[in-house]
Amino acid sequence: TRQHDIAVIAGDGIGLEVVPAAIRCLDVVADRHGFDLAWREYPWGSSYFRQHGAMMPADALDQLGRNAAIFLGAVGDPEIPDTETLWGLLIPIRRRFHQYINLRPVRALPGVSSPVRGGGEMDLVIVRENVEGEYSEVGGRMYRGQPAEAAIQEAIFTRAGITRAAEFAARLASGRRGLVTSVTKSNGIVHTMPFWDEVVAETLAGHDGVRLEKILVDAMAAKLVLAPTAFDVIVASNLFGDILSDLAGAIAGSIGVAPSANLNPERTHPSMFEPVHGSAPDIAGQGIANPVGQMWAGAMMLEHLGETAAAAELVTAFETVLDYGVRTRDLGGTAGTSDFTEAVERHLPSLPRP
Ligand code: NAD
Ligand code: IPM
Ligand code: MN
Repeated sequence: TRQHDIAVIAGDGIGLEVVPAAIRCLDVVADRHGFDLAWREYPWGSSYFRQHGAMMPADALDQLGRNAAIFLGAVGDPEIPDTETLWGLLIPIRRRFHQYINLRPVRALPGVSSPVRGGGEMDLVIVRENVEGEYSEVGGRMYRGQPAEAAIQEAIFTRAGITRAAEFAARLASGRRGLVTSVTKSNGIVHTMPFWDEVVAETLAGHDGVRLEKILVDAMAAKLVLAPTAFDVIVASNLFGDILSDLAGAIAGSIGVAPSANLNPERTHPSMFEPVHGSAPDIAGQGIANPVGQMWAGAMMLEHLGETAAAAELVTAFETVLDYGVRTRDLGGTAGTSDFTEAVERHLPSLPRP
C-alpha cells in the first residue's frame, strides 16, 4: 500500500489536543482510501525547551527533511518569550524548506454562523508571502537599558519573492473567480510597498482573464468586515497576510476553523500544514479547543500528497457534523474537542464507499 511519512510536531497548548484529534480522523480516511500515514512524532516545543534549552535538537531540520510533509499544531508558551519559541521552531522550518507561500482558505462552513453580514457566503483564499517582508532577520535590539535603547527591523522585499507570490495568486485565481486583490500600504509612506505594487502588476499583466485590484490595508480591514464576499484571492505580505487571516477566520465564525498550508511549491522540500491559530493558552488543557482548523489543515496536506478524494471526504465529514449541530464553544456550541472528533469518526463510515 501507498505510504506517506509525516512528521508530527504537536507543540504546545491546544496543539497537544487538536493534533491527536485530527490524526484520528486522518487515519480513518487513509484506511478507507487504501493508503497509510506513517506518523513520525517529534516531541519538540516548549517542554523540550525547558529540558534542553532549545525548541528542537540541532539536527531537527535534517530529520524533518526526510518526511513527505510536516503536520504542526502550534507553539507558544506564556512562560517562554515568543522570540525563543518562534525563531526556534516555526520560522526556521518555513525558511529552511522554502515554504514561501502560506495558503489560507477562508469560507463559510455549513451550520456555522458569522458575526458579520455577508459572512455566511464568503469564500476566499489568502496567499500570504511567507519568508520575507516584515519578518526579516536584519536588525535587532540594541542598547538595552540605556537611554539610547532602540529596536530596528528592516523589511526586505525582493523582486523574486514578490513575483512568485503574485504568480501563485494569479494561477490560483484563474481556477476560481479570476480576481486577485493585492493588499498593501503603498501611499508612499512605506517605501517597500510601491515596489510590491509594481511587481504584482507586472506579474498579473501576464495572466489574461485574471483581474487585479489593489487596496490599502487599513481600508481592507474595514471592507473585509463590511463586504466579505467581495474577495476571491487575496495576496499580501507576510505581516499583512498574517493579520488578515485571523480577521477573515473570525468573520467566517471562529479562528478555530481556519487552516494554513506553508507550501514549497517546487516540492524540493516538505511543506507544512497547521491551523492559523496559536497555542491558545487561555483554553489549553480544558478539552474545548475546536479541532476543525487542524483537521482542515490535514485535508490540505492530503490534497498536497495527491490524496484528493480522501481530502475531500474529510472536509465533507467535518462540514456535515457541523451542520448537524455538533459544535465547539467558540462556535456557540457545547461539544468538547473529543465529542466533535468522535462525531467525525462516526460519520465517515456512513459516507459512500470510495
Ligand atoms: P491564539 O490563536 O492562540 O488564540 C487567540 C484566541 O482564539 C484565544 O482566545 C483562543 O482561546 C482562541 N482560539 C484559538 N484557537 C482556538 C481553537 N482551535 N478553538 C477555540 N478557540 C481558539 O493566539 P494568541 O493567544 O495570540 O497566541 C498564543 C500563543 O500562540 C502565542 O505564544 C503566540 O505566539 C502563539 N502562536 C503560534 C502560532 C503557530 O504556532 N503557528 C500561531 C499563532 C500564535
Ligand atoms: C501564524 C502565526 C505566526 C506568524 C507567529 C506565531 C510568528 O501568527 O502562523 O499565523 O505570524 O506567522
Ligand atoms: Mn497568525
